[in-house]
Amino acid sequence: MAREPRGQQLSGFREDVIAGLSLPRKSLPPKYFYDAAGSRLFERICRLREYYLTRAELALTRAHIAAIARFAGSRGTLIEYGSGASMKSRLLIRALRPATYIAVDISRDALQAAARRLAREFPRLDIVPVAGDFSRPLTLPVKGRRGGCAVYFPGSTIGNLTPEEAQAFLAMTRGQAGRMLVGVDLKKDANVLHAAYNDAQGVTAAFNLNLLRRINRELGGDFDLRRFAHYAFYNPGPGRIEMHLVSRARQTVDVGAHRFAFDAGESIHTENSYKYSIAEFRGLAAKAGFKGTKVWTDRRGLFSLHGLVAV
Ligand code: SAH
Ligand code: AVI
Repeated sequence: MAREPRGQQLSGFREDVIAGLSLPRKSLPPKYFYDAAGSRLFERICRLREYYLTRAELALTRAHIAAIARFAGSRGTLIEYGSGASMKSRLLIRALRPATYIAVDISRDALQAAARRLAREFPRLDIVPVAGDFSRPLTLPVKGRRGGCAVYFPGSTIGNLTPEEAQAFLAMTRGQAGRMLVGVDLKKDANVLHAAYNDAQGVTAAFNLNLLRRINRELGGDFDLRRFAHYAFYNPGPGRIEMHLVSRARQTVDVGAHRFAFDAGESIHTENSYKYSIAEFRGLAAKAGFKGTKVWTDRRGLFSLHGLVAV
């Protein structure tokens, strides 16, 4: 059974875009990638040869599903943050058999489509889609004790937060569930990372540029997409992939009543994707009040799924 998505405060797009483009180093929050087209592009990214993350996480989840289910325990409620197409959650739902599945995502379209598909596959499951932003405090319709809930945060979406934001997010969920499963991409050869964010077909470039298309459509912008280039590289200091949109020329762009000037080569920083070693991520979780008691990886050591227990 799937309900209609509950709406939480999702506004702020205009304010965030104006604020981000007014900074000396222009930046936009990655959560705005996910309009309907952005969510579809992300699903295409997941199927790309170069984008190993999805395949590695699916493989390790399938390989260790019994142990993962034992760790999560028989929970009444499974809460997933950034559920998107709820692809990996299927494996968990099948193994855990929760009574309720709360799916939280900022993309109402992705949420609705996923809830409909899941309802056909799991007719007895109470599916509660919540259209909300997990970077702000969220009130979820959780019934019963904290111990009866498990939180699932796959896909290395946590890597799109700064370590400080990730810590704050974990601290917020600590009040919601005693146990968490978090998918985290691992540090590796920078060439492998570079290929994953610079795919040959240009799907990641289209995903990045779609943000400008969204600004044009929803905020009355006049970005000329041909005058911006996708640029992604691994920055080893902070340990993250950075995605940028680089202006190919000196130009001005209007967004509603606001005008922004770009130099040739000037960039808008659109996303960070942090990569962690297992020890680094455990250290971050510890600062948020979680003990990393279990970790599963795929056979090639590309990706990790951490089992965290609130202490
Ligand atoms: N969990 C899926 C999807 C990961 S993509 C997987 O592992 O494949 C990241 C998802 O998080 C997208 O569906 C996006 O819409 C959602 N998302 C990104 N930022 C968000 C935010 N601040 N609040 C809620 N959802 C967010
Ligand atoms: C959702 N998130 C974990 C993806 C990532 O790998 O950081 C988003 C993405 N950006 C470019 N490709 C995929």
